[in-house]
Amino acid sequence: MNENTQALVLPQRDAAQSEAEGSDKLAEIERLQIRAERELSQARTEGDLTAWHRRYLGRQGAVAGMLRGVSALPVAVRPQVGRAANRLRQRLETAWTEGAETAKRLALQASLRTPPLDVTLPGRRVFAGRLHPVIQVLREMTEIFREMGFQVMTGPDVESDEYNFTLLNFPPYHPARDMHDTFYVDPVATGLPQAADWVLRTHTSPNQVRIMRRMAPPMRVIVPGVCYRHDNPDPSHGWMFHQMEGFAIGQGITLADLKGTITGMVRRLFGPGARVRFRGSYFPFTEPSVEVDLRCTLCKGRGCRLCGDSGWLEIIPGGMIHPQVLRNGGVDPARYSGFAFGAGPDRIAALKYSIEDIRYLYQNDLGFLEQF
Ligand code: DAH
Repeated sequence: MNENTQALVLPQRDAAQSEAEGSDKLAEIERLQIRAERELSQARTEGDLTAWHRRYLGRQGAVAGMLRGVSALPVAVRPQVGRAANRLRQRLETAWTEGAETAKRLALQASLRTPPLDVTLPGRRVFAGRLHPVIQVLREMTEIFREMGFQVMTGPDVESDEYNFTLLNFPPYHPARDMHDTFYVDPVATGLPQAADWVLRTHTSPNQVRIMRRMAPPMRVIVPGVCYRHDNPDPSHGWMFHQMEGFAIGQGITLADLKGTITGMVRRLFGPGARVRFRGSYFPFTEPSVEVDLRCTLCKGRGCRLCGDSGWLEIIPGGMIHPQVLRNGGVDPARYSGFAFGAGPDRIAALKYSIEDIRYLYQNDLGFLEQF
């Protein structure tokens, strides 16, 4: 053997090896085709189809990988394997196009089977809420008082016995407390300090002392809010009701200021023809005390269910703030005086809208409430 002959031995061994490599690759291409076609036939959704396309025909997909691998094969088998790989690509691309069309058709058929959207159906009406009649009245009153220079403040619904009663001249066990049927709050159950007694405030008047302790005269303040009493409900009473406390403290304030303020407010609310009457009354925290009645707007004074046949309805109790209450609030009664009142917006709303029973206001009957 010469050198050339010897050299020829190697290519012959290579040929066998190349062939083996080539047929391995062809087998791999076939397996890939079978797997890809099976998975495509199982794809159900558009998402399945997209994922399949990325997996096999995408730039990083199996077919592209296969094609790239061809260049690493021995030259002798490259053309055959390359053709097979290209055929695979074309075959899968065709299959994918058909699959996508089938999926679209199936989706359309499915959507045609679902009930159609009936565009002739009338729409659902949007329910527009509105303010409760008592809140409307409260806002109107607030606006009127604001124009008279009163500022609006609030206080807690759960009040200490001290603020609700004692500081307003209702000493413990004093019979004046009987005017207020009280809900006591259990401090153990509610986590309130046990050193005090707690009540659901029976009126908004505790805010007189609360606010006096925070501000210096002169002051004009209203405090709207909800109060609670263990009362039997009737056409003019509820166990929960609104009150609007109002007070003015300064130098030289007299009962005439109270009369002017209240009368002005009532005429703004009910019109210039509204009739009010002031009569003497008693409250522990005012001296003198008055009761302001409005001539019943429902029966025009003839007497009805709402006014208890008297022709008049108590709407605003008030008076001159008792010197002891001023002192309790840190105000010197020798320098300052003040008036106070506690208007009843529920009754005022009943009178304004001719509602013969304030209990209707709290029955959540939309048919009733929507009238106002
Ligand atoms: N807080 C009293 C009540 O609910 C009403 C009242 C009377 C309030 C006289 C006042 C006032 O501010 O001066 O029975």
